[in-house]
Amino acid sequence: MGVGIIGTGYYVPSRILSNKELESMVDTTDEWIFSKVGVRERRIAEPHEATSDLAILAAQDALRNAGVTPEEIDLIILATSSPDMIQPATAAIVQGKLGALNSAAFDVSAVCAGFVYALTVAQAMMKANTQYRRSLVIGAETYSRILDWSDRSTCVYFGDGAGAVVLGRQPGTLGIHTTYLKNDGRGATAIRYQGGGSRHPASAETLAKNLHRFEMNGKAVWDFASKACPMSIRKVIADAGLKLSDIDMVITHQANINIIRSSLEELGIPMEKTYTTIEKYANTAGASIPITLAEAHQKGLLKKGDKVVLVGFGGGLSLGAVYLEWGLDHPGSKRLLKRQRAKLDNHSLN
Ligand SMILES: CC(C)(COP(=O)(O)OP(=O)(O)OC[C@H]1O[C@@H](n2cnc3c(N)ncnc32)[C@H](O)[C@@H]1OP(=O)(O)O)[C@@H](O)C(=O)NCCC(=O)NCCS
Repeated sequence: MGVGIIGTGYYVPSRILSNKELESMVDTTDEWIFSKVGVRERRIAEPHEATSDLAILAAQDALRNAGVTPEEIDLIILATSSPDMIQPATAAIVQGKLGALNSAAFDVSAVCAGFVYALTVAQAMMKANTQYRRSLVIGAETYSRILDWSDRSTCVYFGDGAGAVVLGRQPGTLGIHTTYLKNDGRGATAIRYQGGGSRHPASAETLAKNLHRFEMNGKAVWDFASKACPMSIRKVIADAGLKLSDIDMVITHQANINIIRSSLEELGIPMEKTYTTIEKYANTAGASIPITLAEAHQKGLLKKGDKVVLVGFGGGLSLGAVYLEWGLDHPGSKRLLKRQRAKLDNHSLN
């Protein structure tokens, strides 16, 4: 039996912030943002919504989709770079509120490649130890809380949201086949937000200024990402003994539509073989891959046996990809709905 995705889910806050609205906040235009980045609008969490709240709603959606109860989860790994708190892990808050009390829970910090890192760690733990039968892997972010809304070189890119998958055992060749993780720490501070443990600041003003400022060197990130994305896809496909033309679907981190286009073009993969959400949700960092995957799945764009690549890249500078054979029926299939209903008959999710 392999380890694969047995359910997907996502949640995005209902409040929409359009490029048009942003025009009244910073010196930018809808035309610049759409042509340079591919974003038209993004979602913004309500004041009462924390990263963990978004994560819980995405997790509940994924559990429902998988027909699995919170008590059946053995492991929760949550990827975030905008956690509720520096300590405890956001995964711990999610675990308690979800009632997944039989599980281990921890966060993974690998920024926009965080979900691919978390998925790889969960799969490796499940392969190494059969006591981990079902895992919940979540990506959740509230960048609206850490962005400097007066800085047009960063605030126009990002949005809030959460996505999740449930991992379980799958028969035959279904499930995760190859994974690849890497980091280039020479660019570790190209994207940054201080957490309080850096060197002692010269003054209280320096500390206050640095602690609450998200910074990004857009050009450096572009140069890195436009190489990291195609390279990571090539690597997991080659390791699986496949050709790029064998791929049915690529879900990339939703950083910039032009990075996605140029990467796929370089690999000779047509844009029809990807699905994007950047236009409506912007860059949701560690959440963008599971949100996009869940939406593609729930729209019925994936079918059992499809060869799927997930690829992430971003702060760290982190990169990675996962190649898997999709193991789920179409979400509307009668067999799946019947199984989910039967399973949930005696359980209610919080
Ligand atoms: C940021 C990025 C779009 C820059 O593209 P570029 O073509 O090199 O553009 P430049 O930085 O040279 O900026 C072009 C002009 O637009 C201006 N500009 C920057 N941000 C702007 C904004 N939000 N609105 C309007 N104009 C803006 C610049 O000031 C510059 O003006 P100038 O020519 O008068 O100096 C590109 O580097 C990028 O997308 N990087 C990756 C960022 C990313 O994906 N981050 C997430 C990683 S996970």
